[in-house]
Amino acid sequence: MNKKSVKDIAMKDKRIIVRVDFNVPLDGQSRVSDDARIRAALPTLQHILAQQPRKLILMSHLGRPKGKVVEGLRMNPVASRLSQLLGESVEKLDDCVGEQVTNIIESAPARVILLENLRFHPEEEKGDEGFARKLASLADVYVNDAFGTAHRAHASTTIVAKYLPSCVGFLMEKEVTFLSSALSPQKPYVVILGGAKVSDKIDIISNLMKAADTLLIGGAMAYTFLKAQGESVGNSKVEEDKLDLAKNILEEAGTHNVQILLPTDHLVVENIDNPDSKKVTTDIDEGFVGVDIGPRTIDRFKAVLQQAKTVLWNGPVGIFENDDYAKGTEEIALYLGSLQGVTVIVGGGDSAAAAKKFGVVDKLSHVSTGGGASLEFLEGKQLPGIAIIPNQ
Ligand code: 3PG
Repeated sequence: MNKKSVKDIAMKDKRIIVRVDFNVPLDGQSRVSDDARIRAALPTLQHILAQQPRKLILMSHLGRPKGKVVEGLRMNPVASRLSQLLGESVEKLDDCVGEQVTNIIESAPARVILLENLRFHPEEEKGDEGFARKLASLADVYVNDAFGTAHRAHASTTIVAKYLPSCVGFLMEKEVTFLSSALSPQKPYVVILGGAKVSDKIDIISNLMKAADTLLIGGAMAYTFLKAQGESVGNSKVEEDKLDLAKNILEEAGTHNVQILLPTDHLVVENIDNPDSKKVTTDIDEGFVGVDIGPRTIDRFKAVLQQAKTVLWNGPVGIFENDDYAKGTEEIALYLGSLQGVTVIVGGGDSAAAAKKFGVVDKLSHVSTGGGASLEFLEGKQLPGIAIIPNQ
């Protein structure tokens, strides 16, 4: 990555403001239920602290409060978890701009300050220049390490970089390095695509078709492709208005010399709420709904994955959240975790959740912290939060 890095800027005795993506899930007791995004930011934060800055100021959004204060979306639970992980106290403020914020930052004994949820202010999502200037006035240097929000041209993710010396953090560098290798991969390159809708994945398929050797398609989107080929899909979820699109993709794959493999057998049920009705079949009869790929497809997909040098996994191949329908996704996840000498990249929130559920996160080369951001990156789009940072 040729962007100015957190390693390139002197930080001693300076106030450093870092945009992180601490948009993490909370449980019923308002505790952080998955701290992966906080952990992922630690290398940057520890590096900055080792440079002895005057203050390390962190800012993030949490959820979608739509420009108003929402009590349940205050950053307090994030501050507690961050403080545990960093091993030092974190002063959490009740706002993110204004005179009082400036004063507390100056007088607080803590080195690490966490601002309140940026999206309590409507100006944040509007990319408001005045709001960005207020954020910039809190610090001397801006670091963007929020890959998960880099596709948003918001005040804190993009506009603030106009007003301070700016650079990217280590997480941003790592994400861009790995996701770039999914666009210019070592071959053979196999892409596993799943999830519910073809329409969500159309741009990513078009872009990856330029680089991939094989696309393995699972999840509900597979039924739209199967129906487009004239196969029986029973009552499975199909995007009827995308059948032509699916046909075009299958034809286009031929012209790019890309092999598309669809499931050849399926786990089906009569009623999603009644797993007792489940059975494996090659043809889906009327009255049945596909919920997972079948065992023959699992073996076929594994045989293709065994040949790969690079794998990108985007989207689960079945309804993995339900243990009764999770086998396909679990087997693929475990198989990816067992591959040696292969770059395996997971992009997209659902497959990251699946990698976590099946305990393979640490066995894969990279599990992106970005949902929408990783999708847009893989679609070949420029992310504004990265584009605005000056080159080295
Ligand atoms: C995410 O969770 O994908 C990022 O934090 C961005 O959140 P948003 O979709 O609410 O902008």
